[in-house]
Amino acid sequence: MKALVLAGGKGTRLRPITHTIPKQLVPVANKPILHYVMDQLKDAGIKDVGVIIAPETGDLIKDSLSKNPWNHNFTFILQDEPLGLAHAVKVARDYLGNDSFIMYLGDNLIGESICSFVKTFEAENPDALILLKEVSNPSSFGVAVVNSNGKVKKLIEKPKRPPSNLALVGVYIFTPQIHEIIESLKPSWRGEYEITDAIQGLLDNGGNVLPHVLKGWWLDTGKKDDLLEANTIVLDEFLKKDIKGKIDGETKISGRVKIEETAVIKNSTIKGPVIIGENTIIENSFIGPYTSIGNNVKIIDSVIQNSVVLDSAEITKIDRLEDSLIGKYAKLHRKENSHRAYRVSIGDYSEIEL
Ligand code: G1P
Repeated sequence: MKALVLAGGKGTRLRPITHTIPKQLVPVANKPILHYVMDQLKDAGIKDVGVIIAPETGDLIKDSLSKNPWNHNFTFILQDEPLGLAHAVKVARDYLGNDSFIMYLGDNLIGESICSFVKTFEAENPDALILLKEVSNPSSFGVAVVNSNGKVKKLIEKPKRPPSNLALVGVYIFTPQIHEIIESLKPSWRGEYEITDAIQGLLDNGGNVLPHVLKGWWLDTGKKDDLLEANTIVLDEFLKKDIKGKIDGETKISGRVKIEETAVIKNSTIKGPVIIGENTIIENSFIGPYTSIGNNVKIIDSVIQNSVVLDSAEITKIDRLEDSLIGKYAKLHRKENSHRAYRVSIGDYSEIEL
C-alpha cells in the first residue's frame, strides 16, 4: 500500500501564522504536525509516500522532510492550483498506479494508531475505508450517514443542516477504483473537486465503503483554538520528562518538563507539561502548564501558560499571557505599567507593545 499525504493548500483559517509557514508545518509540542503523520505511516509499515505540495510552500515542506528519520521513499507531487482533495488524487494518478493507498491530510492529528484501519482494509477488501468522528460542529466538515447495520448510506460535504454528527476525518483508504469516479466528478459549490463527492460516487455505484468511528481524539488543526487543544493533548499524552539545558539554582521545575540541551533557564518556575526548545533563554519568568516554547526564543520577566510560542519569538515583561499563539520572530513587549491578562494570536515577524 502507498500513502498520499496532502501538504498543499493555503491554510487561511490559521492566518496570520500561515502567512509564512504552511499549516502542516505548524508545530505541536515543538514538532510539525506533518511529522506526526509520517510517524503514523512508519508505524503502519508504509514506505512509499507521495507528498502533494503547493507551488508557494512546496520547498518548505521538502526541507522539513529532508532529514527523513522515517526512511520513507518520498515522491513530491506538485498540485498547481488548490482545486480540492479529489483533484490532488488526480494529480497523483501516475504515482499511485494501480495500488491501493491511504490518503492522509497533512494537518490532521489522530490519537489512534492507523495500523488497525490498514489491517481491516486488507482483511475485508472494501472499495474504501473512511474514518469518522462524532463532533459538535458537523457543518464544518464532510458528514456521513451510517445506517443501523453499520453501512455508510450517504456523504455530504459541509451541509448547512447536518443529517448526523459524524464528521469525515482526513484519513481515508482507497482502492484504485476511486480514480474512475474522480474522472467524472464536477466541482462543488466552493469550486473544488471534493473527495467526499468521489466517495459518494463509489456508494452510488454500489460500492462497499467501510466506516470506522474513532474513539480517541481527532484534531483538525486548521484553527487557532484547535492548535492549542492539539498542543495540550499531545503534551499530556506523549511528553516525557527530560531535563537538560543550563538551569541555575534559583529555578524550580515541577511536573513533566522537557528542556533541550542548549536552553538557558535563570531564576524561573517551570510547571509541566512544558517543552522548551534549543538555544531558548528564559529569565525571571513563570512558564505554566501546556506550553510549548520553540527554539531561539527569549522570555524575560513574563508569565505564560497554555500557549504555543514559535521559534525566535521574544516576550518581555508580560504579566500574564495565556491561550496564545505567538509566531516566529514575533516580539511582544510591555512598556506601560499595566497589569492584565492577554489572549492573542500573533503572526510571524510582528511586533507588539502593550
Ligand atoms: C476536508 C474535507 C472534509 C473533512 C476535512 C477533515 O475539509 O473536505 O470532508 O471533514 O477535510 O479535516 P477542508 O479542510 O478542505 O475544509
